[in-house]
Amino acid sequence: MQQNQPHAVLVTGSTSGIGLAIAHCFGRAGHHVMLHGLADAETASMLLDEFSGYSGGAGFSSADIASEAGCAQLVEETREAIGNPSVLINNAGIQFTAPAHEFPADKWQQILAINLSSAFFLSRDLLPAMRAASWGRIINIASVHGLVASEHKAAYCAAKHGLIGLTKVVALENADAGITANAICPGWVETPLIQPQIEKIAREQQVDLDAARALLVGAKQPLAKTTNPEAIAELALYLCGNFAGTITGAALPVDGGWSAQ
Ligand SMILES: NC(=O)c1ccc[n+]([C@@H]2O[C@H](COP(=O)([O-])OP(=O)(O)OC[C@H]3O[C@@H](n4cnc5c(N)ncnc54)[C@H](O)[C@@H]3O)[C@@H](O)[C@H]2O)c1
Repeated sequence: MQQNQPHAVLVTGSTSGIGLAIAHCFGRAGHHVMLHGLADAETASMLLDEFSGYSGGAGFSSADIASEAGCAQLVEETREAIGNPSVLINNAGIQFTAPAHEFPADKWQQILAINLSSAFFLSRDLLPAMRAASWGRIINIASVHGLVASEHKAAYCAAKHGLIGLTKVVALENADAGITANAICPGWVETPLIQPQIEKIAREQQVDLDAARALLVGAKQPLAKTTNPEAIAELALYLCGNFAGTITGAALPVDGGWSAQ
């Protein structure tokens, strides 16, 4: 990172899965981390305990970022807890699957709001301070579904394709200010988000969960293994490091060859 100083890092959706792995990775590296996600006070305090051993310290916000007001609340709570973030990692996301002709309007709105609009509102509100400091990193956790489509994921694919578009615009507009913006595009990562899809296959095909997971992953990825959340976290940390200064506007697949087909 710039002069190898600790940075203030906001990771949305960091109470579980990929976001939590990213938060730990930056915490271990000595940065100040703002944890965030839909969690009760008890879970929040357990999470903060996990981070108490790291030198950088941590804060927590449970702001619901499905609205512009929720995003503004998260910005305010982050500034109070760790100062202005120089690293923003837009990771919070949800999934819902149904054919487009049956897709419920509320699920469409919710997925667009959480998976796409929150990244816009948070980037918009945090960029001015990054620009003033002449350094910043925005990392959007998109998906292979930002690059290719799958059936029954109209809202998710629309949001993730949109997120990659947003990433490119932010990269172009801020290239003069020491700020990079990139998207990471995972294939299947072993987290709670994919559990309902594994369970659905197990039910429908009457197989156990391990067999269902293998069927789910193998149907899309030539390299038929789930990615460890820590692998995504290490890539995010790399994108904030000294050797990644000219990587910007990229959409980086970590997908077992899914998008190479
Ligand atoms: N797991 C995968 O296979 C996979 C693959 C590609 C991309 N992704 C993307 O990675 C990101 C993280 O996914 P994950 O699998 O770790 O998910 P997860 O379900 O484990 O975690 C999601 C996080 O988002 C938070 N969140 C959800 N709705 C929110 C809201 N309204 N307000 C605030 N926080 C909210 C949750 O509290 C949680 O912290 C998502 O954007 C997802 O689309 C995941």
